[in-house]
Amino acid sequence: MAGDKVPTVSRFPDVSTAGARVPASIFARLREHLARFPGEMIPLQIGDTHLAPPQNLAEIEWAQMTPADLYAYGAPNGWAPLVDALAAKARAQNAIPVTAAGVQVTCGATHALSCAVQGLCDPGDELVLVTPHWPLIRGMALGANVVPIECVLADLEAAITPRTAAIYFATPNNPDGAMLSRDDLARIAALAAKHHLWILADEVYEDYGYDARHVSIASLPGAFERTVTVFSFAKSYAQAGLRIGYALGPDGVIAVLKKLVNHSVYNVPVAMQRAALGALTNGAPFLAAARASYLAARDAARARLAAPAGCPPGGAYLWVDFRRYTGDDCMPILETCAAAGVLLAPGTAFGDACGGFARLCFTGVPPARLAEGIDRINAVLANL
Ligand SMILES: Cc1ncc(COP(=O)(O)O)c(C=O)c1O
Repeated sequence: MAGDKVPTVSRFPDVSTAGARVPASIFARLREHLARFPGEMIPLQIGDTHLAPPQNLAEIEWAQMTPADLYAYGAPNGWAPLVDALAAKARAQNAIPVTAAGVQVTCGATHALSCAVQGLCDPGDELVLVTPHWPLIRGMALGANVVPIECVLADLEAAITPRTAAIYFATPNNPDGAMLSRDDLARIAALAAKHHLWILADEVYEDYGYDARHVSIASLPGAFERTVTVFSFAKSYAQAGLRIGYALGPDGVIAVLKKLVNHSVYNVPVAMQRAALGALTNGAPFLAAARASYLAARDAARARLAAPAGCPPGGAYLWVDFRRYTGDDCMPILETCAAAGVLLAPGTAFGDACGGFARLCFTGVPPARLAEGIDRINAVLANL
């Protein structure tokens, strides 16, 4: 009928505000400079490993695979043998009092954290990020219309408001390798209890503590009931391509995560969970060798690098402090490094106040390439 208005949301051609707010890759600008380098670039920006995963997986796990493992739907919470093994591992290794009903297998820790943000926070809620923080957690919050609030650990209580729903931290941390002590964790747990908050504990580097022993916050008295803890086969067992991670928590929260996994990927591929179980069952020698290899790489990288970088007690990264060269914005150094064929991750991705820093991964390339990459950085610094 002429004159009748059809109500619309008038969205097109705009996308959702939350989707638009999620930050794009931080490396686009550096890649433009990298394009000027004629040789082979050295990727020290990415959090990866040059090690091959635990041996004999082919014989141990893939051989037992049935067509149903590859072609049929699996259980949304995870493949039962892996779920049971993860619950047992969490009880024995992490002292987390979880049963199989409190385990959710996910597409990497990334998926676990994304579902946890959605499961614990409402739109408009605040998620406190202990900073410097793993970059994707901020985008996950923004994508769920949750407000990320950055703060250093010492300022945690001041960052809590009536809108705070949860506290996120990683230990060992990415990017600075910091490991929270039992006392630090007890303080976080006490604050969470006082302010009725959830805890989102990112423990993907649990196996790579060098100077301290990893402690899971959910093992502390009273903490389990308010904590979702996340782990990853990418980090523990050099199996990033499998995309297997998992979340542990109280049964009620994990039941919510199960619904979110069900509605996002339905189930994680069973074949990949078989390979993860192989690593969990047979991976102890790998873990010991990888820890020794990464520790040697950390020490070699620190000794060789001309810029200050502290001594990370755990994790896979040096948190390089370039402030003495270019103040609070080291992007010009990172661009020159890119043009010299070596990439580092810009500090701004890890927190608003981190522009004078960059992250260097010491596990991603073999020792000789690591040394060559650091020499390229040193040459850039020498020519400033
Ligand atoms: C602190 C932290 N959390 C989570 C993840 C995601 O792990 P995954 O590869 O299992 O998704 C990473 C990966 O780099 C990480 O460094």
